[in-house]
Amino acid sequence: MRIVLCGIGVVGKALLQLLLDDRRWLADHHGFAPRIVGAADSRGVAASKNGLDLLGLLSLKARTGSVGTGPIPDLPQFIADTDADVFVQAVPTNVRNPTDAIDQCRAAIHSGKHIVTATKSPLACAMASLKDAAAAHRVRFGYSATVGAGTPMLALAARCALGDRVTRIEGVVNGTTNYILTAMENKGETFEAALLQAQKLGFAETDPSADVDGLDTACKTVILANEAMHRRAVFTDVRIDGIRHVTPDWIGQAASAGRRIKLVGRADEHGLSVAPREVPIGSPLDVPGTTNALCISLERGGDVTLTGRGAGGFDTASAILRDLLDVWRSMRGE
Ligand SMILES: NC(=O)c1ccc[n+]([C@@H]2O[C@H](COP(=O)([O-])OP(=O)(O)OC[C@H]3O[C@@H](n4cnc5c(N)ncnc54)[C@H](OP(=O)(O)O)[C@@H]3O)[C@@H](O)[C@H]2O)c1
Repeated sequence: MRIVLCGIGVVGKALLQLLLDDRRWLADHHGFAPRIVGAADSRGVAASKNGLDLLGLLSLKARTGSVGTGPIPDLPQFIADTDADVFVQAVPTNVRNPTDAIDQCRAAIHSGKHIVTATKSPLACAMASLKDAAAAHRVRFGYSATVGAGTPMLALAARCALGDRVTRIEGVVNGTTNYILTAMENKGETFEAALLQAQKLGFAETDPSADVDGLDTACKTVILANEAMHRRAVFTDVRIDGIRHVTPDWIGQAASAGRRIKLVGRADEHGLSVAPREVPIGSPLDVPGTTNALCISLERGGDVTLTGRGAGGFDTASAILRDLLDVWRSMRGE
């Protein structure tokens, strides 16, 4: 399998490292020996028909900050022109301007490449039309890394939806906000103090808006609803309320009533929403720290819950690898 990889940040680098570390296991157990024939970051591109040297690529990135030299590439053109079977996307998620990431996916589809993406914005803003286009061009579209990282939440959601009707999805699917809310409860801190601490420890970005204002949870709620409830929802359909207004007082009152406050993404018959909600202590969504939880309500089967880590470079890279192996099997007609 020949891969063109765009985005060599936390996730892209972890994927390259995983392919290096697991090279023998992948070949022996899966007959899988992928070659990275193209790579791009924000400052340059690298390409080789025979496959780039992954160790060399990683060390070049560490030394110079880029896998190539300028000029900054026209990524859709680079993706279309590279002779690859699969486009792997690990560029930033930007729901306020999703066009670039969507254009990359369209370029891959129209040049006959399968897609495996960790980037949420193309799915949050154009999932239905991209899936339609991928189906029309007979290419596969893998995105299990976009929700739950290494925890296979989308696979569970899709399986649940096969034999039953999903009536509601609720998820605590953003580790940063859950870490902040947990710290506020445990230490009695204000939102601002808990956010500062999360930033110091590397659990929150310098610009925390995507997490604390609920945008990341909204993206994931859209993807889950479309996957399991046959919706054609987009990001702008979600009513979004973040956690900036959660106070220690509210957390204290909830605790005395046997409840904890969690940022919950929900999809049900009333639509899609993201909001801080009180959940009973000990209930499936009552997960601590950066842990994620997904609760799927089935018409006949009742509630199904999955918990696990929802972020991290290697966790996310392992989800990408899972999707790549699915593509590899389909390429071999399995
Ligand atoms: N990190 C996680 O735990 C996690 C989990 C699940 C999903 N995701 C998603 O995975 C994606 C990647 O996350 P990450 O943590 O790896 O992000 P990151 O560390 O910020 O890396 C982003 C990469 O994309 C490159 N890039 C940015 N703008 C670009 C452009 N215009 N053209 C080409 N390349 C560009 C960056 O280039 P430079 O290296 O030159 O800056 C960098 O290599 C995001 O969409 C994120 O939401 C991440």
